[in-house]
Amino acid sequence: VGTLVLGSAGFLGYSWYDSKLVTTGKVDFDNPLAIPPLAESTEDASGARVFDLEIQSGTTALKDGAETETWGINGAFLGPTIRAKRGEEVAFAVRNSLDEGTSIHWHGMHLPAVMDGGPHQEVAPGGDWAPQWTVDQPAATLWYHPHPHGRTAKHVYRGLAGMFIVDDDTSEGLPLPSEYGVDDLPMIVQDRKFNGDNQFDDQGAFMSMQGFLGDEITVNGTLGPYFDVSTRLVRLRLLNGSLSRLYNFGFSDGRAFSLVATDGGLLPESWETDSLQLSPGERAEIVVAFEPGETVVLRSLPADEGYSGPLGRFNGADDELDLCEFRAAATLADETAVPESMGTAPDLADAEVAEERSFKLAGFSQINGESMDPQRIDFGVREGTVEVWEVMNNDGFMHNFHVHDVQFQVLAVDGGEPPERLRGWKDTVQLVPQREYRLAMRFEDYTDPNLPYMYHCHILAHEDAGMMGQFVVLGEGEEIGQVPVTDSAH
Ligand code: C2O
Ligand code: CU
Ligand code: CU
Repeated sequence: VGTLVLGSAGFLGYSWYDSKLVTTGKVDFDNPLAIPPLAESTEDASGARVFDLEIQSGTTALKDGAETETWGINGAFLGPTIRAKRGEEVAFAVRNSLDEGTSIHWHGMHLPAVMDGGPHQEVAPGGDWAPQWTVDQPAATLWYHPHPHGRTAKHVYRGLAGMFIVDDDTSEGLPLPSEYGVDDLPMIVQDRKFNGDNQFDDQGAFMSMQGFLGDEITVNGTLGPYFDVSTRLVRLRLLNGSLSRLYNFGFSDGRAFSLVATDGGLLPESWETDSLQLSPGERAEIVVAFEPGETVVLRSLPADEGYSGPLGRFNGADDELDLCEFRAAATLADETAVPESMGTAPDLADAEVAEERSFKLAGFSQINGESMDPQRIDFGVREGTVEVWEVMNNDGFMHNFHVHDVQFQVLAVDGGEPPERLRGWKDTVQLVPQREYRLAMRFEDYTDPNLPYMYHCHILAHEDAGMMGQFVVLGEGEEIGQVPVTDSAH
């Protein structure tokens, strides 16, 4: 194992694994896969669906019968799956029972900046927050997680993360597998590391150049999970909920599966593949077919696309990991299908472009040479317009790019057609070093000259270090305002 210090600041040091991590064939699948409960809701007088979410600390028996200190929402570890339909008004009573400030950001959601749950909506210890908005976007697998300035990695690592499933008339009318926990499964994939006391080890984890990499994988918080399959087709809602690790999902026998949805929702038609790469924050819905009586393992294979900087491949790109074992029953129900046509294709390729911008990510903590400053609004976009953002990873490490409030279309990668897996709506895209990604997005509905949305690298160590910027959406005639100075809650 080597350690190298780049630059003068000590925290820029990093260390890397001296060999690739291989766990295939070595994981005992002896724990049933946990399925996060569906969040309960009540209806208030105005007809809004109200969810209570309490952020808390606790302990969870994860390993060798020992209690590991964890954080969760409405429980000790992770959070319930929130489900709402397009057109519904949702309201949340969020209570922070931790002894430090945190927030809940709705990753992938189109909503007013004041409800976004980013660094400007931190909830003080013992404090409450009541965001409310109308869900108005296509059916999709979104997620929620904290976003406090500089501490997001730590909070996600402890266990603050959950899925947010949006349904709509289209998704409800399709024959896709859709029985939650039976043939439609959330899969929150996260790497962790345990110390000798079976506690989460995060020694120096959030300061290293490639970010934190754990050597044991939890799915929905379960180590060594298995799932009993009772249907021929199963839909997996894959979420890379890890801080830094890249996964290239596939199966132990190399079988093909169908990609049916990307970050922002269903594809027009499914795409068949035998591997699917997701960087932190990205989601995908896949449908896989099983034969009666068989056992197959969901794996992460070495990455398709490299991160070959001057120093090697990073973020676990070479690792081979066993994630979850699927055990098919002797007879399987067969009532679902992958339909010929599903969602709508992104349509911004021919849109009139109001503005082009360029973003260069480099140096652990910077975009276009600057680190995040919560009081600095980097630019304003006009409501109702389409912009094209040209994004580039200018160093040898792994980065990706996430934009709040919108879903974007990947128009081109290095001037060519984007790969199939990037052809649907996306809100997070991995950036292979030195390639140019052209992203088109439309800003609509919500304006606020003072309260910004974020764009950032979703390698959480990088985000926390400042690889993030802020933009506001301006209504007609509005000028960029000033971020209100809030009392920092931590
Ligand atoms: Cu999932 Cu700004 O984050
Ligand atoms: Cu987000
Ligand atoms: Cu990064």
